[in-house]
Formats: sequence, structure tokens, C-alpha cells
Amino acid sequence: MSKRKPLISGNWKMHHNHFEAIQMVQKLSYLINPGDYEAVDVSIHPPFTDLRSVQTVLESDRIPVALGAQNCHWEEKGAFTGEVAPTMLAKMNVSLVIVGHSERRELFGETDQQVNKKVKAVLKAEMTPILCCGETLEEREAGGTADKVSGQIKAGLAGLKGEQVAGLVIAYEPIWAIGTGRTATPEDAQAVCAAIRQVVADGWKDAADSVRIQYGGSVKPATAPDLMRQPDIDGALVGGAALDPDEFSRIINYRLVG
Ligand code: 13P
Repeated sequence: MSKRKPLISGNWKMHHNHFEAIQMVQKLSYLINPGDYEAVDVSIHPPFTDLRSVQTVLESDRIPVALGAQNCHWEEKGAFTGEVAPTMLAKMNVSLVIVGHSERRELFGETDQQVNKKVKAVLKAEMTPILCCGETLEEREAGGTADKVSGQIKAGLAGLKGEQVAGLVIAYEPIWAIGTGRTATPEDAQAVCAAIRQVVADGWKDAADSVRIQYGGSVKPATAPDLMRQPDIDGALVGGAALDPDEFSRIINYRLVG
């Protein structure tokens, strides 16, 4: 089985207004080499208010970075004050949408059922979900990582066909590693990502070979190469280090290190 093309995604969370976003993307584009784009896919996920500006820069400067969103609602339209529909994102050429990030689940009460509806809605709008999963420190210490993560994946993908699952992205982001400077060891991250692939294989057979599984949680230029070497890790979902184009570009060209 050949390894899948890695996807390195920058989740800006609630950082950078649209002016800053334009500068960030332009700086990033100077730092990424043509060879990087052959070796890895790259996406950036700015806040909603930046999307249109970032889309314009990416398209007018022909920068082959995919535009991503951080969240969406599952309905196409209606009385849902403050929400954004998947079709609205698709119209701006957003191609990837993060769904079920732990911050959405923990801080805003998103449930597995809602995450599942969002995954389906993103697919219906012909975009790719990045379905997030991950355990808390307490769950990890109690030996509950596998149960938590497999439960989130099964619930998030419930009702999908094999061909839908085959194209999507799963991000394993242990909650205790997000924004803390603590990273799972490459071996630990590999073990959980292999278990996730097995959950996909059990439910959707061949889709498991093509699903891309990212690791996220304090990924830095220094830690990316060893993580990316693991057979079941097909990319990274990067928060803090993606806010700085220099750091993010060094993660994107992780192959050149070590
Ligand atoms: P950090 O890289 O800041 O730990 O964030 C990870 C993350 O949550 C990306 O979605």
C-alpha cells in the first residue's frame, strides 16, 4: 500500500483579521517551494470573516493552497442566527471544512450527532470534512483513548457510504496536546491513528486505505518530521505554529529536515 499524499492544514482558530490574513497568505506563498506542493497538500482555515479575502489572494496569485473553513452548520438555510451554511462556503471555493474540533465540542457543546449531520452536509455540498477526534487527559490516564476515539469516529461517520468515507480526512487531536506544547510521541500518535484506520476498515472496508489521518496537537517544525514518518499519519492539523508563516512553512517542508 502506498502512503497517501499528506495534507498539512493550518487552523487559525480565532486569530488574524482579514487584512492580517492577506499578509499571512502572501508571506506563506513566498516560503513554500513548488516541490512542496508536489509532495504535500496544504490547506489554511481562517475565520469566516477572512475567507473571501483569502480566496481572492489564493486565486488571483494562483497559490495552490486549499481554502478551508473551521466549522459550519448542517442546514442549507433558515432561521439559525449566527450560523454559516455549507453551500455558502462551497460558493467561495472552500474545499475542506473542519468538523467536530474539540474546541467546538468542549466549549460549544457540539454532540456526536451534530458532528455527524455536519459531516453529511459538508459532503452534500461537495466539500471534504476533516473530522476531528481525541481524548482528554483524564480519559487517556484511565486507558480510555481507544474507546473515546473509536466512538467519535463511528458516530461521526454513521450512515456514510464507503465511497464517501474514502475521500475524507480524519484528524486525531489529543485534547491534552492542543495548545499546551505537549505532543503525543510519534509512537503513541501512530498507535491511535492505526486504531482509527482499523475502525474505518471494520465499518467501510477499502475506504481505510485512502482515508487521510492527520495528527494535531502542538505540532512544530521540530516535531513534524518524526510524526510524519509514521505509516498511519498522513498529515498534520496545526494550530499555533500555523499563525506564523515561517513556522508553518517549515512544517510544510518537514521532509527537508533530519
Ligand atoms: P495547536 O497546534 O496550537 O496545539 O492546535 C492544534 C489544533 O487544535 C489544530 O486544530
